[in-house]
Amino acid sequence: MEAVNIDGFNTRAIHAGQEPDPLTGAVVPPIYQVSTYAQDGVGGLRGGYEYSRSANPTRTALQECMAALEAPGIDTARAMAFASGLAAEDTLIRTVLKPGDHAVLPNDAYGGTYRLFKKVAEPWGIQTTPADITNPEAIAAAIAPNTKLVWIETPTNPLLNVGDIAAIAEVAHAKGALLVVDNTFASPYLQQPLLLGADVVIHSTTKYLGGHSDVVGGALVVKDAELAEQLAYHQNAMGAIAGPFDSWLVLRGIKTLGVRMDRHNSNAHDVVNFLTAHDGVSAVLWPGLESHPNHDVAKKQMSGFGGMVSFRVKKGEQAALDICANTTVFTLGESLGGVESLIEHPGRMTHASVAGSPLEVPSDLVRLSVGIENSEDIIADLEKAMTQALG
Ligand SMILES: Cc1ncc(COP(=O)(O)O)c(C=O)c1O
Repeated sequence: MEAVNIDGFNTRAIHAGQEPDPLTGAVVPPIYQVSTYAQDGVGGLRGGYEYSRSANPTRTALQECMAALEAPGIDTARAMAFASGLAAEDTLIRTVLKPGDHAVLPNDAYGGTYRLFKKVAEPWGIQTTPADITNPEAIAAAIAPNTKLVWIETPTNPLLNVGDIAAIAEVAHAKGALLVVDNTFASPYLQQPLLLGADVVIHSTTKYLGGHSDVVGGALVVKDAELAEQLAYHQNAMGAIAGPFDSWLVLRGIKTLGVRMDRHNSNAHDVVNFLTAHDGVSAVLWPGLESHPNHDVAKKQMSGFGGMVSFRVKKGEQAALDICANTTVFTLGESLGGVESLIEHPGRMTHASVAGSPLEVPSDLVRLSVGIENSEDIIADLEKAMTQALG
């Protein structure tokens, strides 16, 4: 039979790693809710499966699909699925760094990533320096002789700054460091950092990949075979794996990633148009705006600008908190990337752990995860909440 063309992103999302089940023909990979596997004589493994921490067919399907989305055409690419984004990050840190090593961190990032480095990795002996990810020269200046890792998020959480992945990869590689890109906000549908020179992509699959606010998970994707081998070893040795049901949920979410992201993009654009015209707003942060300081970089490396929008409220922190408390279609809550719209106050919620650090966020900032509802309904909800809060 002739090979079927699975070059398109949506085709890969639906088929990569997801052949019909060999036993029954089930068209989606079953949830192999199992811990161990019968062996045909000692060491006689069926399909390489021995124990589900080491490998599980549902997790394998997710991992193969993720590698095909983040690194199409790169045969050595490999993905590993974890119990959470932070579990993926921790496994990465303890695989590529050892006490005495140094990492350059983003000066604007998910607070939990910063907390993991400051509170867990630093006491273990890792040194860190935050640097401005929008300025490759600032990153170069932060690199020390013992720097092994340059870590960026792009777009950043919650300020939606954008770093030039290709330029930063060059800077990192020139000094012998690996470049890690947290691709959670963009998802592989909008941006594929490994194709731009990054060495490792990390994801909180809890977000756009899962897409339905019903699972917590993480992933690492790499293209170098040796690094993949080391990470896979640690995935098993440290054990922070994604379980079968969670793997299945993320894989199901991925099938609709492309159609969801198109809708997140266009709804976010509508919300941004509303916010930029609102006189209670002092700044709208979204890389799709031509006035965004990194718009040109975003246009170059992303195929859409995503569903995350932040804005600053002229009247200050209390007004920002009041807006968050007054929406009904937007749910007040942490997390992002689900089909439903979410609103939050980063300073008091997702980024409370970075208060007093170089990553502290403005207190008048509101972050929106724009969902895929009808845009007129989410805008009407925001308008009502802003009128109530701002008078
Ligand atoms: C950009 C980013 N990276 C990593 C994480 C951590 O992922 P998890 O919450 O799945 O551990 C988050 C969580 O919000 C995030 O927003």
